[in-house]
Amino acid sequence: MRDVAAAKERGEKWPMVTAYDAMTARIFDEAGIPVLLVGDSAAMVVYGYDSTLPVSVDDLMPLTAAVVRGSSRAMVVADLPFGSYQASPQQALETAVRFMKEAGAHAVKLEGGRRVLPQVEALVSAGIPVMAHLGLTPQSVNVFGGYRVQGRGQSGDELMADAKDLEAAGAFAVVLECVPTDLAERVTTSLSIPTIGIGAGPSTDAQVLVWQDLMGLTERPAKFVKKYFNLAEEMDRAVRSFAGEVAGGAFPTPEHSYH
Ligand code: KIV
Ligand code: NA
Repeated sequence: MRDVAAAKERGEKWPMVTAYDAMTARIFDEAGIPVLLVGDSAAMVVYGYDSTLPVSVDDLMPLTAAVVRGSSRAMVVADLPFGSYQASPQQALETAVRFMKEAGAHAVKLEGGRRVLPQVEALVSAGIPVMAHLGLTPQSVNVFGGYRVQGRGQSGDELMADAKDLEAAGAFAVVLECVPTDLAERVTTSLSIPTIGIGAGPSTDAQVLVWQDLMGLTERPAKFVKKYFNLAEEMDRAVRSFAGEVAGGAFPTPEHSYH
């Protein structure tokens, strides 16, 4: 938390990546990624749902614990899933405390602006670092009527007001998802806490991607995704080669056998 605040003062940009298991968490941690997000995107990339709405606290808890076990330096942020914090500050506190005590998370993230300020305040006063999330907040997909850019025109001013209120309520960072580049830039310069962009252009203090998107595992990634690897193709090649060698008797050889 202190590190990401200091990075903003120094004008240093930093990366955040999602993680859902110990082995990938270890790779990202050892590569020096400072913040790992156990996103409720696990609903899609781990559990196979077509939105983030169905995933539960019980679904995300073991993934969070695994990421904490797999990493040693990174700050691990747990996403609070749909329905686990909206009802009241009390509900938000109970959920966040579970992620911190049972799974070992270092911070939590929740979606929304002014409507979740009481929740943010309750968590912050309990000593829980809170990451906020504005713009395309996927838990509200049924209000937006689809996954589309948010904050164009008039609603940009509302997003700016939300961001300032979240900062005043004590949030330590705010994710800006699918918002126009100029709005993300204005929010970034108006806030003293870091902004973390995803589909928000180059001006935010940090950038986040879902690891399956950046590694090329996702079938139809969004426009904002840059593929840094072709993991789906590489895995397809590897597993076909294994299958072929098993069928043809080329695997295993004495090299991979006990004598
Ligand atoms: O769930 C998630 O992966 C997220 C990031 C995309 C910010 O919320
Ligand atoms: Na999320």
